[in-house]
Amino acid sequence: MQLINARLRQQKSLFTLDIVDGYFSAITEQTQQIVATENQIDAFGNLVSAPFIEPHIHLDAALTAGEPNWNHSGTLFEGIERWSERKPLLNESDIRQRVLKTVELLVSNGVQFIRTHADTSDNSLVGVRTLCALRDELADKIEIQVVGFPQDGLLSFPNGLALMQEAIEIGVDVIGGIPHFEYTRELGEASMKKVIELALKYNKLVDVHCDEIDDPNSRFLEVLACEALFNDLGSRVTASHTTAMGSYDNAYCSKLFRLLKNSNINFISCPTESIHLQGRFDSYPKRRGLTRVKELNEANINVCFGQDSIFDPWYSLGNGKLLRTLDFGLHICQMMGYADFSTALNLITDNSAKTLNIQDRYGVEVGKPASFILLDGEDDYSVIRKQGEVLLSVRLGEVILKRQPARVVTPNWIDYE
Ligand code: FE2
Repeated sequence: MQLINARLRQQKSLFTLDIVDGYFSAITEQTQQIVATENQIDAFGNLVSAPFIEPHIHLDAALTAGEPNWNHSGTLFEGIERWSERKPLLNESDIRQRVLKTVELLVSNGVQFIRTHADTSDNSLVGVRTLCALRDELADKIEIQVVGFPQDGLLSFPNGLALMQEAIEIGVDVIGGIPHFEYTRELGEASMKKVIELALKYNKLVDVHCDEIDDPNSRFLEVLACEALFNDLGSRVTASHTTAMGSYDNAYCSKLFRLLKNSNINFISCPTESIHLQGRFDSYPKRRGLTRVKELNEANINVCFGQDSIFDPWYSLGNGKLLRTLDFGLHICQMMGYADFSTALNLITDNSAKTLNIQDRYGVEVGKPASFILLDGEDDYSVIRKQGEVLLSVRLGEVILKRQPARVVTPNWIDYE
């Protein structure tokens, strides 16, 4: 396969990409535009990027909003209550159908890697079993990581720890936690130590729902980061949400950032979810309820964006488009300068790859697997500004998606001449 007239990120020229046996064999700068032959794919000057990555989603809960009841308050905690009503109705075929529909939606929007959470606060563990089975069944189509996520507490939910142990035996890739939801600060701290202990024992990654609350006293992130640092696990550990950081005072945050930097842990922010769920106990002024994405990014601490939910008890919108999440995130985090825009796709591509620990098989480089997307636009800025569609998705040298750009027929009422 040969792709011609392609633009690459942070480059002005046009490029030809050669793909042999599923790998990039050559990437060559063109001196001029080329007229395509029958065997070539013409990118027409559009942007080639490494595939989008969804680093944080709950596929077991996707497409269940309103079943059996809607989340009327819009709070995270009512979301957990509504989900606990839906959980007894779960079965394998119900989960399978919803997960497949959601994965298809993500793939059709340029996603080729997913990290999904699977609720372990359920004695049947049907979500964990079904998601692990689907991960294996779909392995030749998409790469999925499954996080064992103790939604109702690792140490506070009856048998929470035993259920996590069982989830590890079933085959989750990542150990999760939810320290701010444990009954006490002591249990929250102990849960962070336990998560790291399990990750070391079973050689797993870690991704914790950490301090997902507006409470400035919720400070489990420092415990997680410190445990990661002392056990030399940093790059394998992720703190998701950390929305309390948006409420920390600057003096504490300044001290905290030194630890975060030294620990080398990763961050995931879910801007659409957090702007919706947080700030719900405020009158005015009302907090945005997001972690400090701009400051983390400027401090060279790895941070990326995820969707978290698609039509579930916590968030009843969502369409699988990470460009929408990115657009919201840039607005909410006040990352609207030219420098922010010109590298913004990192927040849903390269930074997410680092979080998922998949850099060895990710990126548009000679010798890497030929997995990429073609976006309608010529650089990060124009793709974000016009919310450019994914025109082509190629995985390991195979075309898995082609999209014709929409054509608008307008009345010819402006004479530009
Ligand atoms: Fe989540």
